[in-house]
Amino acid sequence: MNFLDNLVLPQSSEHIELLHYILMLIMFLFIPFISVLFGGTVLSVYYRKKGLRETNPLFLRFARDVIETLTINKSMGIILGIIPLLTSILVFAQLFHSTDSPSINYLVFAFIFTAIGVILIYTYRYSVIFSGLFETIKSIVPEDDNNSELIKNYRDGSRALGTRTGRYGLIFLFIALFLYVAAVSNSLYPLFSIEVIARFLQFLSAAFAVTGGAILFVFFYWDGGKKTDDENYRTFVKKTALRITFTGALIQPFFLTFDIIALPSNALSGAVFTYSTLAILLIFAAYHFLYSMIRNSDVKMSGPVFYVLIFSMFGVIVKDQLAMGNATKLNSVILASKYTEYLKEITGENKVMAAANGEQIFKNICSSCHSFDHKIVGPPYKQTLPKYEGKLDQLVAFIRNPSKKNPDYPPMPNPGLRPNEAQAVAEWLMKTYKTK
Ligand code: HEC
Repeated sequence: MNFLDNLVLPQSSEHIELLHYILMLIMFLFIPFISVLFGGTVLSVYYRKKGLRETNPLFLRFARDVIETLTINKSMGIILGIIPLLTSILVFAQLFHSTDSPSINYLVFAFIFTAIGVILIYTYRYSVIFSGLFETIKSIVPEDDNNSELIKNYRDGSRALGTRTGRYGLIFLFIALFLYVAAVSNSLYPLFSIEVIARFLQFLSAAFAVTGGAILFVFFYWDGGKKTDDENYRTFVKKTALRITFTGALIQPFFLTFDIIALPSNALSGAVFTYSTLAILLIFAAYHFLYSMIRNSDVKMSGPVFYVLIFSMFGVIVKDQLAMGNATKLNSVILASKYTEYLKEITGENKVMAAANGEQIFKNICSSCHSFDHKIVGPPYKQTLPKYEGKLDQLVAFIRNPSKKNPDYPPMPNPGLRPNEAQAVAEWLMKTYKTK
């Protein structure tokens, strides 16, 4: 992906931090949406197939309702499913610039597969809604009507299209999700490691939990719930959604704990632990609400269940981002130092600073080890500078390339100044030390 490298600008460390936050916000949009898209399509395809085989109108209605409500509409598919991935690619190109991390390649493939998957799934959505229309027509048009053959052909065509697009859409999205998880985990784990597979399974189980929660939410909570007087259907939806949510949520803590144990030590920090724990606690809160719904056989907690599951998902996202930030700290430092050089080059600031400001150089670099009248890491200037009186060149030479002097001190590391900078700081020191 060399063309991406051309888009990359060196970043200051503040910018790099900002990019991590942007990535996190993008994930807040993308991950819940794509999870529900995937989970909803799996359910719809499954119940549609079952419904057609057993000619069960309840299943068919559920298949249609789920895909119709959970996918919202086509623009949402683009806004929440495709654009965030594209943006992530650009952010990753910045963050992983000049490392040979394959993350960005995985992400580009994830993007291609997601785009195809999303298009197929929205085609599936239309054909399922369309098929529903034919069912209605069938009930109006008498069987022996001349047109019935034509209608039958259209219906079968649309049905076959639905079956194909649903199935292939899922396959593409499945692969895309795996690549996505691998890409965002790549600073921690290699592609086909146990840890990435565990993260992927965690992603899938979370997707089902949130999908179940979303079904409960739109059918029973949002806007007073979907109005239906068919008690049979309500009971079926409630039971199915509860089962899916519960199963998906049940294995979450296991995977999250595994991930914390498996994380490499350079990725760990207090905050990573805290957000993991928070995510797990929210899952427990979800159990609590789900249990009360099963026990009282009501749907009152549909909203809270969905909210805690979404927030638990946010917790996991923050944790993953923090872990990634920790693990790539070294690369960030290198990027930031390149930025400083780049900045000096475009502003010519280094020369200006050297000409004008030996004091600034002292403050920025030397003062962490030197004071004028007491020992810090290096000896006080009042002690060492008198011997350089009238020997400015020697002082400059020492600063540019320090040599071992005093056995009571460790050797001074090379501060990496340019000739004019060393000259400036030396002049300033010789001028100043007696008055300090
Ligand atoms: C990381 C710590 C560190 C930094 C940063 C540092 N120094 Fe030093 N400096 C030392 C130490 C340690 C010694 C003692 C070395 C020795 O005696 O061998 C020393 C010694 C010196 C001496 C005495 C040399 C002599 O002949 O005895 C001078 C002068 C000096 N530093 C100037 C500077 C200036 C100017 C800078 C900033 C551009 C600077 N140092 C930055 C640690 C540092």
